[in-house]
Parts: sequence; C-alpha cells; structure tokens
Amino acid sequence: MKYLRLTAGALAFLLLIAPPALHAQEQATAGGMKSLGAKTVLPSPVWVIGSYDSEGKANAMTASWVTISCSKPPCVSISLREATYTFGNIMNMGAYTVNIPSEKYATAAAYFGTVSGRDVDKFAATGLTPVKSELVNAPYIKEFPLVMECHVIQVVRLGLHTMFVAEVKDVKVSPKILDKEGNLDMAKLQPLVFNPSSWELFGVGGMVGPVPGLAAKYMKK
Ligand SMILES: Cc1cc2nc3c(=O)[nH]c(=O)nc-3n(C[C@H](O)[C@H](O)[C@H](O)COP(=O)(O)O)c2cc1C
Repeated sequence: MKYLRLTAGALAFLLLIAPPALHAQEQATAGGMKSLGAKTVLPSPVWVIGSYDSEGKANAMTASWVTISCSKPPCVSISLREATYTFGNIMNMGAYTVNIPSEKYATAAAYFGTVSGRDVDKFAATGLTPVKSELVNAPYIKEFPLVMECHVIQVVRLGLHTMFVAEVKDVKVSPKILDKEGNLDMAKLQPLVFNPSSWELFGVGGMVGPVPGLAAKYMKK
C-alpha cells in the first residue's frame, strides 16, 4: 500500500512537474533560442522613488518597473505593488520624486529596495538627506545627482502592479554630471542597471556611438 502511494506521488510529480521542464527543453532546441515563458526579465533602470507618508515622514523605495512615457507633456511612469509603503503614500499625496543613484549609491539603492518604510526610517539608516520638493508634495534625495519632481496624472491598475503615470514638473541635476554643452554625461552620472533575472545591479559600460553615426551604416548614400 505504502509502495502504491509512493508510486502515485511519483506519477503525479511526473505529470504535473515534469512536463513543463521537458517542454522548456524542447523549446531550447527550436531555432537555438530558449523559451523562458511569459515573464518580465528585461534589463531595467534603477530609480529611487521618494514619497511622504500621511504623517510627513519621508520614504525612499527602489523601483525598476519604470520608464519615460511621454515627451510632451514630459511624463514618466512607475509600477508598484500595493504591498509597498510607497504605494499608499503616492495614492494619498498624488506625487513622487524619481531619484537616480550613481554607482557609488548602489548600497543605498539595494537597501531602499529591501526594507520597508513601514518598519524603518530609511533616511536615518543611510544618512541620506530628504529635501522637500519645490513643486510637488514629495521629498527628493539631496545627495543623488539627478532628481525629478512628479505629479501623478493617471493611476492604471494592471494586476500585481499599479502604474502611476506622472507629469514631470522639474528636473534638478548636480552640475557635476553635465558636459560642456549641458547634456547629461553618462560617464559622470554612472547610472545603475538591474537584472531582474539574477537580482543583481550593474554599471553601464562606455558609449557605443552616436545614434546618427551608428544608423548611417544602413542608410542609402
Ligand atoms: C533593484 C530593485 C528594483 C525594484 N523594483 C520594484 C518595482 O519596480 N516595483 C515594486 O513594487 N517593487 C520593486 N522593488 C521592491 C521594493 O523596492 C521593495 O519592496 C521595498 O521594500 C518597498 O519599500 P517601501 O515599502 O518602503 O515602499 C525593487 C527592488 C529592487 C532591489
């Protein structure tokens, strides 16, 4: 009887667990590409979102489900789980800041993305400084080289994550990260990239080339 039960368990394992694994192996041979299934594993930017709670306590959380959404009006969007403390803060205040950490702030970015402002004061723990934004009701991080003050204009419930689309009211930068023409100097900004697949942070390599110069290879002369 015991043997039978084990056999039934093993059968269930083979039927329920094994088929997807075999399927993935089959997919691996098709065209040399391996199917990872329907998931979000894209290399992503690392932003730190600043917000105030209902008592005015500043909080910071790391977000990578983020993007520029519109150039005119200038808009960005961030996607947060309802379980985060930041989610409730933004729902209440209708505002957030986007703060771009340089590589030297990788430890703070990792910490901001690991613990919750519901339990700890992340600014006190890291020694970083929250500054009240001039144009929106959210704090930015004084030490970070690039910050954006954002006013929420749309809330889109998608599933596990809710997208907060916001209009950028101002961008503030440290002059240290600008080149002579006033453009962002990526070598000085040193932004981070997140690999959601391995849960690791990376730096950005050097410039590959200017877009017109690279595209020229395939343009008709
Ligand atoms: C690199 C990185 C990126 C993250 N991106 C997101 C994200 O885009 N959306 C999200 O809901 N959580 C994201 N998280 C997890 C939150 O930052 C984490 O749950 C955090 O503790 C929430 O803080 P809060 O509760 O103080 O708001 C990320 C974490 C890391 C380390």
